[in-house]
Amino acid sequence: MEVYGVLVFALCCMLFFNGVEVAVGLKRRESPSKVSQPYRTAYHFQPSKNWMNDPNGPMYYKGIYHFFYQYNPYGALWGNISWAHAISYDLINWVHLDVALVPNEPYDINGCFSGSTTILSNGAPAILYTGSDTKKGQVQNLAFPKNISDPLLIEWVKSSHNPILSVPDGIDTSSYRDPSTAWMGADGEWRVVIGSEMDHHGLAILYKSKDFTHWVKSSSPLHFSNKTMMWECPDFYPVSVKEKNGLDTSVEGENIRHVLKASFNSHDYYILGDYDPKTDHYNVDIDFMDSKGSLRYDYGRFYASKSFYDAEKKRRILWSWINEGDSESDDTKKGWSGLQSIPRSIWLNEKGDQLMQWPVKELENLHTRKVHLENKQLKGGSLIEISGITASQADVEVTFSLSNLNEAEVLSSEVVDPQILCTQKNASVSGRFGPFGLMVFASEDLIEHTAVFFRIFKSSNDFRVLMCADQSRSSLRPKVDKSIYGAFLALDPRLAKISLRTLIDHSIVESFGGEGLACITARVYPSLAINDQAHIYAFNNGSQILSISSLSAWSMKKAQIVPMAKRRKPIK
Ligand code: FRU
Repeated sequence: MEVYGVLVFALCCMLFFNGVEVAVGLKRRESPSKVSQPYRTAYHFQPSKNWMNDPNGPMYYKGIYHFFYQYNPYGALWGNISWAHAISYDLINWVHLDVALVPNEPYDINGCFSGSTTILSNGAPAILYTGSDTKKGQVQNLAFPKNISDPLLIEWVKSSHNPILSVPDGIDTSSYRDPSTAWMGADGEWRVVIGSEMDHHGLAILYKSKDFTHWVKSSSPLHFSNKTMMWECPDFYPVSVKEKNGLDTSVEGENIRHVLKASFNSHDYYILGDYDPKTDHYNVDIDFMDSKGSLRYDYGRFYASKSFYDAEKKRRILWSWINEGDSESDDTKKGWSGLQSIPRSIWLNEKGDQLMQWPVKELENLHTRKVHLENKQLKGGSLIEISGITASQADVEVTFSLSNLNEAEVLSSEVVDPQILCTQKNASVSGRFGPFGLMVFASEDLIEHTAVFFRIFKSSNDFRVLMCADQSRSSLRPKVDKSIYGAFLALDPRLAKISLRTLIDHSIVESFGGEGLACITARVYPSLAINDQAHIYAFNNGSQILSISSLSAWSMKKAQIVPMAKRRKPIK
């Protein structure tokens, strides 16, 4: 009860003193090691030290957001995989609680791998997770809160029925993991999918249960693909075709479509389709890796994501692991590895053919100093500095307007890989409309910079808008990732302005193009452009003149992401 009091107080402090280091009753955030830490983030979620990978079982329960994640309590590399746990009132400021699940039973002794939470019919949450057993075989397990009237859900108890599911015939024991959030079908029974691979094809094995403990495998998977390998971390949920509001995972009825996400080839791909809750038949529009193209949540670094329905604000929220682009020895030196994306609201676009994503509104509470400009011309080959804000810890939103689009370069082939196009035509290759956009983490002499930019092309009967994140000059350090990422934005530049929002946070550049039509997340490791040595520019390296119709940029306060009090001091 006393611990509970301290934590509630800590959460209250975070709300009242947002932006001010909370010292009373909590330990200050400490650097895990003596090395300098230019890459630790200020407002992205991360533990104070050690390894973190997938988001697990995010949920809203009794007024509090809960977030679990794959965590190594003992080091900066993958191992000893446990479910760490943190809580928040606003998805941005967090208090770390004790680790919720540790590998200590024969059915999970080699790791408590990814899984999900489901709010059961009595309102209580349950965790379904994968255990790596004594032989490193994968099995599915169940855990419940020790005390469901505790909104902090500090202690979790593993079910005495564990393992509740073991690998079915025809599946390798190393390819059977990551149960999704369960949903209820038309017959009142629970359904869950588990990521797997059979005969080198990815699939989501479907199970049904009346009591959440005893599960029966359906004769057919929910879906499978002969164009992919193993699916990790499947996520299956409804989206409304009429409104931006999110839907509870079990909702059925009119005007609903279903999203299936699977993690493979280091990316998170999704498909859209119609799901029949009576037959469990899922009829998809365009399948994974179709020649017509494939949809991804993010075209940069973004893996093993998980969504949940926020019943309080009626929205669906997406989290994802953003891994490192440096070496294991760098991670060991810095004492940590892995970030989480800013939680994003997701909804179906008006056309109904792709998802839209936008950082949760609560992030704006971290906005502090603002600079703004309007109707500023950007001649070909020019740039302007966005000064007056903390360039290594910022939120920038810019809208460009273009005219004379008939002058755009011609894109000869219809189907072009956007990443290849961005690599061939990187930020230093001048075109007509583009490259134009933002240069972030730029050193004074521009030797280091990460460019997030657009190019407009004419194709046979319309226009194509390419969005790129070019890390090729992001660091003078030789051995860090310098990929160039790319995506096409499904918008007509004759009808819509081209907008970009970029979240800049010490080693992460999370960009949202076209108001959330395409996202690209990059991890960068500048050696010169760190802390107050970083600059931000808006640039136009194309030959055509264009204008910034509006640009707002904010310094960002540090989020309060604090460990639970080890010592309880009296509260003043
Ligand atoms: C995805 C993943 C999951 C697995 C977990 C283990 O990153 O490989 O499939 O459950 O990580 O940490």
